[in-house]
Amino acid sequence: MGRAVQATSVDPEGLAEPDERPCSIGAYPDGPLLVRGSFDLLGPDGERIAVRRRTIALCRCGRTRTAPFCDGTHKAAGFTTRTPAPARPPDAAAAVAAAAPASPRG
Ligand code: FES
Repeated sequence: MGRAVQATSVDPEGLAEPDERPCSIGAYPDGPLLVRGSFDLLGPDGERIAVRRRTIALCRCGRTRTAPFCDGTHKAAGFTTRTPAPARPPDAAAAVAAAAPASPRG
């Protein structure tokens, strides 16, 4: 079950008030990156992106319609941060096959 990101303080113009806490970034399981504290969010052109919350969620599934922010689409998309088991190295597979007893049928 996900936890909603709440705005902690918003000024009348809709921008977050300065936050003196050091910046921290946390990865939400199967979801966005949560950024808290004092930070500047810059776009690809280096321009500052207005932040309306002191805690923001940045998309890491790549499917949001409100980039760079998470819009919750990751849930419908089935995005997961769980990594699959590593593939068995080819050498290990060959060693297992060579060590196996020969089939009695041939
Ligand atoms: S992580 Fe939420 S929409 Fe991408």
